[in-house]
Amino acid sequence: MKGFSIKTEIQEYDTFEQFADDAEIGENDLVLCGEHTFNKYIAPLNTGVQTLFREKYGKGEPTDGMVDEILNELRDKTYNRIIAVGGGTVIDIAKVVAVAENDDTVDDLYDKVGSLSKVHPLIIVPTTCGTGSEVTNISVINRVSKGVKMGLADPAMLADSAVMITNMLDSLPYKIFATSSIDAMVHSVESFLSPNGCSISRIFSTEALKTILKCWKKSVETKGEDAWKTYAADFLKASNWAGLGFGYAGCAAVHACAYPLGSVYHIPHGQSNQLMFKDVMKMYKKIKPTGRINDLETIIAESLSVTPENALEELYSLMDKVLESAPLEEFGVKKSDLPIFAKDVIKTQQRLLKNNYVELSEEQILEIYKSAY
Ligand SMILES: [Fe+2]
Repeated sequence: MKGFSIKTEIQEYDTFEQFADDAEIGENDLVLCGEHTFNKYIAPLNTGVQTLFREKYGKGEPTDGMVDEILNELRDKTYNRIIAVGGGTVIDIAKVVAVAENDDTVDDLYDKVGSLSKVHPLIIVPTTCGTGSEVTNISVINRVSKGVKMGLADPAMLADSAVMITNMLDSLPYKIFATSSIDAMVHSVESFLSPNGCSISRIFSTEALKTILKCWKKSVETKGEDAWKTYAADFLKASNWAGLGFGYAGCAAVHACAYPLGSVYHIPHGQSNQLMFKDVMKMYKKIKPTGRINDLETIIAESLSVTPENALEELYSLMDKVLESAPLEEFGVKKSDLPIFAKDVIKTQQRLLKNNYVELSEEQILEIYKSAY
């Protein structure tokens, strides 16, 4: 049985400058980020770091083509540490680059999974409050060449340091806050319910969920797109704790069912989770109404000051106020896709499905898609 451990050193700073001074970042470091982030936080420090700007390689979440192009570009560069400053895409790319030998492609890395080793020390500075990816060993790449979005997970992909700096969230647009905090909420719920969790991982999942729900509630009551910023430090911590929870216990059916929506229809990761969340939970309740899901309802009830019987419905309604949900049909999803998605999920997402609260058949997954449609 595996034990719970945190291998990534987690540091907290007030400003990027303080971190840059302490870490003595300089010309031997490669900073992977968006150009806007570089200009705002890093360029004024004149550190002389080498840079790689993600937007040069394409928009949206990472694809195998995008990462292969980056690996190609880096072949001629000499650098030691990789410092990833960004959201899920930047972090996922950096984790892959950190374990790639000079001639590796993305396909090679998937073939070598389980025996990868760290080539460059990796420091991650998240600029969203969602993925928790700074403390997990997983990168999710849309393998366009294989028509599937799937995780690449190896212990070597864990960051050496995760650096948490609240003011990195300053310029986060509302929609990215909303989708990333929904992602973190789903991480906390899926890892809490996972049969592969342990008492310690559930402490992180529970605290993450409580913090997100309380801060969502206060933000929604305050109204205004910037209301969440009062609680930015809490959202950032909660996304990190949820990462520690799911880094051990795993995510499950919500993420598994959401992946085809991301790979085929390019719905952002957190939003695609939102679209599947309610119907996966309803299926869980239908199949196994008593069990750990009742502990989850109690946590939600206490956080939102409602009764356990209404807890999940109140959560769906609160999430809808954070970001309005809609049926899959409104995102252009074709009805004829649903059986294909259900089959693909069973075929390609067993890494996640093994963490389900209850086992789900292909027919039940299809039923979930139909309910969300
Ligand atoms: Fe996620």
